[in-house]
Amino acid sequence: MKRQDLDTPALIVDAVTMNRNIERMQRAAVDFGVRLRPHTKTHKSPEIAKLQVAAGAAGITVAKLGEAQVMADAGLDDILIANQIVGPLKLRRLAELAGRVRLAVLVDSREGVLQLEQALGEAGNVAVDVLIEVDTGKGRCGLGDLEGIADLADRIERSAVLRLRGVETHEGHVPAGAGSADQMRERAETAGRRVEEIAVALRARGHDVPEVSVGSTPAAPWTARISGITEMRPGTYVFNDVNQIAIAQATPADCALSVLASVISRPAPDRAVLDAGSKSLFCEPARRGFALIEYDGFGYIREAPAARIVGLNEEHAIVRLPAGSEFPGIGERVEVIPNHVCPAVNLHDELALVDGDEVVEIWPIAARGKVR
Ligand SMILES: Cc1ncc(COP(=O)(O)O)c(C=O)c1O
Repeated sequence: MKRQDLDTPALIVDAVTMNRNIERMQRAAVDFGVRLRPHTKTHKSPEIAKLQVAAGAAGITVAKLGEAQVMADAGLDDILIANQIVGPLKLRRLAELAGRVRLAVLVDSREGVLQLEQALGEAGNVAVDVLIEVDTGKGRCGLGDLEGIADLADRIERSAVLRLRGVETHEGHVPAGAGSADQMRERAETAGRRVEEIAVALRARGHDVPEVSVGSTPAAPWTARISGITEMRPGTYVFNDVNQIAIAQATPADCALSVLASVISRPAPDRAVLDAGSKSLFCEPARRGFALIEYDGFGYIREAPAARIVGLNEEHAIVRLPAGSEFPGIGERVEVIPNHVCPAVNLHDELALVDGDEVVEIWPIAARGKVR
């Protein structure tokens, strides 16, 4: 099948670029002396997860139990659910999954630990690894103070069904409003040092803390270099996106995924309308970054860098073109790099893996929509 045989809108992934991204991050993990456990919420594809594992990843990360089930069904057998799982409905599913793969989850409360223990106790004969989530500045889940963390570690230590695998942080705050790479490096290193400091303090209190897990693509060049970190969990790197371009960590050539879209209308000389709107690209403004080139639209059009997607409706992208542009004309196609690739992927049923003009695979995005 050829690229021109794909109907639009379609997710296309350049195989060469994706494989290069996978190899680069794997090499970085090896250089830093840590294990790579990629976050698969970016691609939600068991096939791509298997490529990451084949390249050397030590297991995978997911955000949701439903994603973990899809990955486990596809044969991925070492899964970290980097999230708190609560409530009997989910915990029954978690106990079932724990019986068939090496599984770990995050905890940050005594209540959460208790609920996990009850569900595992009812299921009988299953144990689960837990990592205590440490808030190193993102202000989402996780505990910040050592006393609270140590108290939770003591509680886990007394459990018959939970094993303390270690501590975890998601330093997702690193790029937020950052004005320079130096500022990001400083934030990333501070986060890495903090989580490692917590691990050292827990060991001093007698706890075994084998894993010190960090993770985010923007912070990947720095956090995992901190001595004592054992694992990194970046996700976005597999494809990259406009948000990565905005902080000068990627160029369009490093972006593996695009939404292939067709021009359906040219109602004015400076306007084109694409058949891919917020239901194909996801409607999120680009990150404000510090790259020399700022892309302030709702996606970057590879073939027309001077064009701007100034508005999205559900099924339309409104593109402002430089005066006098004949390209792209009605029926012509363009590739749009999404601002934030992870939620854009979640909107599609399948992706087309392309190599030049050849479509080499059509893969289902099997874990899309698995938000439970
Ligand atoms: C817990 C956790 N770990 C790792 C990641 C990966 O971050 P990124 O997509 O920036 O690589 C995320 C992203 O949301 C996350 O929530």
